[in-house]
Amino acid sequence: MLEKIKQLLNEVNALQAATPEDVEALRIKYLSKKGEVSKLMEDFRSVPAEMKKEFGIRINELKNCATERINELKAAVAATETVADDLDLTRTPYPIALGTRHPLTIVKNEIVDIFSRLGFTLAEGPEVEDDWHVYSSLNFADDHPARDMQDTFFVEAHPDIILRSHTSSVQARVMETTQPPIRVICPGRVYRNEAVSARAHCFFHQIEGLYIDKNVSFQDLKQVMLLFAQELFGPDTQIRLRPSFFPFTEPSAEMDVSCTICGGKGCSMCKGSGWLEILGCGMVDPAVLESNGIDPNVYTGYAFGMGVERIANLKYQVKDLRMFSENDVRFLEEFKAAN
Ligand code: DAH
Repeated sequence: MLEKIKQLLNEVNALQAATPEDVEALRIKYLSKKGEVSKLMEDFRSVPAEMKKEFGIRINELKNCATERINELKAAVAATETVADDLDLTRTPYPIALGTRHPLTIVKNEIVDIFSRLGFTLAEGPEVEDDWHVYSSLNFADDHPARDMQDTFFVEAHPDIILRSHTSSVQARVMETTQPPIRVICPGRVYRNEAVSARAHCFFHQIEGLYIDKNVSFQDLKQVMLLFAQELFGPDTQIRLRPSFFPFTEPSAEMDVSCTICGGKGCSMCKGSGWLEILGCGMVDPAVLESNGIDPNVYTGYAFGMGVERIANLKYQVKDLRMFSENDVRFLEEFKAAN
């Protein structure tokens, strides 16, 4: 009888099944009332008393092994069954839910695109910068208010290391490594120590442009700015340049475009003036060329800088600047059509 148990144990360990019916047949063969294990139980009655203990242990062992193996087979068969049931190769696929581009990315791409058609190439620089590239090399006096704690984020323990407060720092980086002709467009994030509100944020995005070559004039700047404004806001758009001041340009100007809502008649968007300010620009100050290793006797150039949020607001009338960084999908999905 011990021989028989041993043989059944070997059988049980090698059991295989392909379908639930196979598994059920095995269960009946080994574990049902008339199965092999029950038969052994009957034989067990006639085993001499002194051998009952050993037989008992062996039969139990066989029963446990059979139960375990059959359960294993049951689970394996069930797993393959589910895959096979669910797999319908003729079904149309679920549509993949596509994300949308961020409105600031849409506007940035559009602006970069316009300038790349004019031969400008992309340049980028670090957000964590040094004072030289953000201020000193761009002709900011040591006591210029923009360096003030009010405006600049300092990286702790390093008074010289700051978060850039404008993308003009990339101008300096390009000039120090490249000789003219230079024609670059530099998008990026900038930081200013401002209280966050609907109208101001401690980080935002700018796009800087720089053109340096022989005989570059203010006339070139004006013409390129007009073309840019018309590409971005439509062919009827007009521009106006107002004298201004920036440490790194001389002369400097602020540029307005005719109101994108009323076309210049005056409305609440342009506060009745018919004009909307969109960027700062000017001829690169010779002192800046000199500081950055470019000979001002040979070369001249122009530069301009604009805020991406500002332009996105004009295009999409976003009322609260904070919407741009809150990642609310309901807001982001509104720009699906513009992607
Ligand atoms: N950096 C200026 C700012 O953050 C913007 C600017 C003005 C950039 C005039 C220029 C420029 O390149 O010529 O307000």
